[in-house]
Amino acid sequence: MDKVTIFGAGHVGATTAFYLALSATLEVALVDVEEKAAGLALDIAQSLSYTGSGSKLAGGTDTGLAAGSDLVIITAGFPRLPGMSRLDLTSKNLPIISAIAGDVARLAPEAVVIVVTNPVDEMTYLAWKKLGSASRSVMGMAGVLDTSRFIYFLDELAGIPPRDTSAMVLGTHGDDMVPLIDWSRAGDSSLAEAVGSGIEEVVERTRDGGAEIVSHMKTGSAYFAPAVSIGVMALAVLGDAGRVLPVSAFLDGEYGVSGIFLGVPARLGRAGVVEILELPLSEREREALSRSARGVAGRVRELEAVAGDESD
Ligand code: 2OP
Repeated sequence: MDKVTIFGAGHVGATTAFYLALSATLEVALVDVEEKAAGLALDIAQSLSYTGSGSKLAGGTDTGLAAGSDLVIITAGFPRLPGMSRLDLTSKNLPIISAIAGDVARLAPEAVVIVVTNPVDEMTYLAWKKLGSASRSVMGMAGVLDTSRFIYFLDELAGIPPRDTSAMVLGTHGDDMVPLIDWSRAGDSSLAEAVGSGIEEVVERTRDGGAEIVSHMKTGSAYFAPAVSIGVMALAVLGDAGRVLPVSAFLDGEYGVSGIFLGVPARLGRAGVVEILELPLSEREREALSRSARGVAGRVRELEAVAGDESD
């Protein structure tokens, strides 16, 4: 049975554990600094009695629960509150990610790692540095979530049903995310052609999708769509069927970008990111992706300076 450990038993971590336990037969460990992880794991385990799932759950504060994991998912960290940008979270979440990555390097050095904590592209970089593992075995979750919102708003605002849509959101998980409107299709047309000027609202609502939910929830952020997005990535890794999904992956020259994690289409498998696909993007999509990459690169430099100060 494959083993998945989820660090962070907040709404995102717990819902991911629930989704994964129901979707496949897995050993799922839920680890948190708070004792609630043990209760949540027990609750999820008891929910399986009627479902036919053979998943096994464990939970608690002991990081040793992660030992021997095939896959580790890091959701721990402070959530985004109203008025806070994802970047405001950086200094708060940096020490948390560093500590968890250190534990994972010790307890499950072979694991593929999916980072979810915001700001995700920067935190994935930091986790990779701390893990000291191959860059392809580490990835961040955002593109699958942003794409689910893009597909939703294309349906809601422009009447294009998901079954006719082939769409993807690349770039960073933030204001510079890049919903592809020339590459993505609605039937045989590009989205720019199929939706016309209405595409601007679709793009804006997608970009602000996380903040829109935060503005309603007040004391927390989205978790159902994030959990399913993580689950889809986790099952693609463990299932090893070569599914292509937009993930934050380490770039080494692809799309003209090097040395950072950024949302790009990637083929996933047991080794993590098996291949990065270079789509034939339009000029404006390439420019938007370059802008997104420059933003992440600048923030990674700042992060390295802060991380360096903290380790002094
Ligand atoms: C979201 O997009 C908060 O980044 C999180 O929902």
